[in-house]
Amino acid sequence: MVLVDRFGRPVTNLRISLTNECNLNCFYCHREGQTLNFEDMKPEEIERIVRIASQLGIKKVKLTGGEPTIRKDIVEIVRRIRPYVEDLSMTTNGTTLKLLAEPLKEAGLDRVNISLDTLDREKYKAITGFDVLPQVLEGIDKAVKLFHPVKLNMVCMKGLNDEEIWDMIDYAAQKNAILQLIEIEVPKEMENSWFFKKYFYPLKPLEEKFEKIAVEIKERQMHRRKKYFIPTDYGIAEVEVVRSMHNTIFCANCTRIRLTSTGHLKTCLLRRDDLVDIITPLRSGASDEELIGIFKKAVLMREPYWR
Ligand code: 5AD
Repeated sequence: MVLVDRFGRPVTNLRISLTNECNLNCFYCHREGQTLNFEDMKPEEIERIVRIASQLGIKKVKLTGGEPTIRKDIVEIVRRIRPYVEDLSMTTNGTTLKLLAEPLKEAGLDRVNISLDTLDREKYKAITGFDVLPQVLEGIDKAVKLFHPVKLNMVCMKGLNDEEIWDMIDYAAQKNAILQLIEIEVPKEMENSWFFKKYFYPLKPLEEKFEKIAVEIKERQMHRRKKYFIPTDYGIAEVEVVRSMHNTIFCANCTRIRLTSTGHLKTCLLRRDDLVDIITPLRSGASDEELIGIFKKAVLMREPYWR
């Protein structure tokens, strides 16, 4: 069975924030749309919710944060949910991967997305607040040996790292990683903020260039994002472009539901009014059927943000 929302969109992916805390402090971070910040879910609670989700046809799970790997029990969480999931991935800033890539692989993690906005140490420090680029690059080297694919997330920002995009394409080709170029994403009420106006860098022109030089183009089902195969001196780079702002096609093809670290289902990163508490019922002894009902309720609240 698969859950389908009122707009005919199947829900097949669950994105779980394991903590809203992070060891970095990127100035643009949307914190996965999470504003509440109290007790994080326990491993056995996460396992139960993933088991229920898997019964409802959700077979892809992404672990995120904050920074998921700062949880001391991260390996246990991966191990517990592994049996219920077909594709288990994680988005991480990479700072801990030098040590954790191997135990995570061993616990059953399939793949990782690593945030990397720049290859310039000073810029990295300016963006994230911490001088840890060398450590992250070591983490990436470790990850590409163990996981396939490794994706690198680059949030593109005007005047900050837009001139580095081609270097990053070369780097991704060298490391045999997929590069995801991401436009800054903010909720409607923040479109007039200084930071959005200053840094938003539209990727459409670049995408048009990719259309011309790519040796192959594929379209992904999720959000109908395109993937371009770009020739470089280091071989073919796989480059995805994530343009979500004002993108009705992006929303029409969204198959994702979210779970916040505090145990609330959430229908959309950008919405502020869409939390469904699942942890309180779970903690007060709800049956599987009741939890399934809560999932269904959240799915019926889904609405395309841009339409
Ligand atoms: N816009 C676009 N992407 C963002 N990320 C964090 N904040 C934003 C934002 N405002 C990206 C990070 C990370 C992923 C989970 O989300 O780069 O890789």
